Amino acid sequence: MIQISENTKKIDLLITDITQLITVAGASNSPKRKSEMDDVGVIENGAIAISGAKIVMVGETGEVLAECKKRKIVGKKTKRIKTKGKIVMPGLIDPHSHLVHMGSRAHEYKAKIEGTTYEDQHGKGKGIFFTVNMTRLASEEDLYKKGKETLEKVVRQGTTTIEIKSGYGLNREAEMKMLQVIKRLRETIKNKITIVSTFLGAHAIPLEFKREEYIELVIKMMPEIKEKELAEFCDIFCDKLAFTAEESLKILGEAQKCGLKLKAHIDQTSDNGGHRLIKELPMVSVDHMDFTDLEKLDGQEKSVVVLLPGVTLHLMEILKKDFWSKRAQEFISKGLAVALSTDYNPGSCPCYSMQTIMKLGACLYRMTPEQVINASTINAAHAIGRANEIGSIEIGKKADIIICDIADYKDLVNGFGDNKVEIVIKNGKVVAEN
Ligand code: NIG
Ligand code: FE
Repeated sequence: MIQISENTKKIDLLITDITQLITVAGASNSPKRKSEMDDVGVIENGAIAISGAKIVMVGETGEVLAECKKRKIVGKKTKRIKTKGKIVMPGLIDPHSHLVHMGSRAHEYKAKIEGTTYEDQHGKGKGIFFTVNMTRLASEEDLYKKGKETLEKVVRQGTTTIEIKSGYGLNREAEMKMLQVIKRLRETIKNKITIVSTFLGAHAIPLEFKREEYIELVIKMMPEIKEKELAEFCDIFCDKLAFTAEESLKILGEAQKCGLKLKAHIDQTSDNGGHRLIKELPMVSVDHMDFTDLEKLDGQEKSVVVLLPGVTLHLMEILKKDFWSKRAQEFISKGLAVALSTDYNPGSCPCYSMQTIMKLGACLYRMTPEQVINASTINAAHAIGRANEIGSIEIGKKADIIICDIADYKDLVNGFGDNKVEIVIKNGKVVAEN
């Protein structure tokens, strides 16, 4: 059945003959749960009409063309893309990244291969603190240039919206520098990718601070961050390596008072009581959740659970955390809303490709192709509070769309290592062609 925005005056871009149009429609008000995750809203031989930056018509090619003719809304200036043999779907959404940082941690990886754990590499000059040193030393300009270069590559991989966190500054000056860089990227690259910024001052306790002092500093920074629109979300690492559940509740509680929305990394290395955050605060998303006690949740929770299988792969944890072969399905059958993300960062996942993460969601977390697609589009949009405008191909939504060189959406999680995205459309304009 065709969907039309009645007051459409002209069509700027018409995509037709789509072998499989994956709409992921019908879940803009609340994320998909349980069996809703099994449906990706396929229209065979589909078409999309775009006016300006918005989607105005969705249906089968014959119906859409007939409607365009009847309404005389297609003219010489209308661009047409025919996509026989391809799938078209919403732009991928990456709801958790640490994309702005300096330096590689490749030097630590040999030790990881030999058996050193993420916990072993958390300390002076190592792990997060290595990246903190490098990021503190970097100029704002160099961080911006590196961020921009990476984002250009992220777009080519089909990601049209990404969340980026601070958290490698861990003092006032360096956290502000990171947030300024994210803001500048947000403004200068917005025609290609939407950036959602998050303050993660509470990523670790910097070694030169006393715990309480640092917590007070993080809280003190919040009003200015909100006022200068440097971040929309506040995040925290609620883990035995960083902040207790009690401290996390305090910090996020203050963030909420300042008008920041809430996210948290919870229970990545052990059960740190992360379920309390879900129960006691309006968390938009809760991420990692490797060791969160599912018995303490009833499945009705609003927070989106953001899963990060790239971390499981990169830290070679699949044997140690063999529960991941069942756990994603347990989350879903319990009723929790699940999204996928890269967690792109130099330590636990140096991978910014959502396509790779989709593959890992399937083969490490045993998520079906349909679950993977919903988790990387509409549910990922819910994980950053943006599902009213992106995440699905529906009338009125932003025309953030990708065209992939595969004829069956199930191939998204089958072959791997190549870039399946052929064309990236952002706000109705072609912004990348591979
Ligand atoms: O989400 N675990 C905490 N933070 C990041 C990793 C940061 C790092 O290792 O540099 C994560 O995995
Ligand atoms: Fe992270």
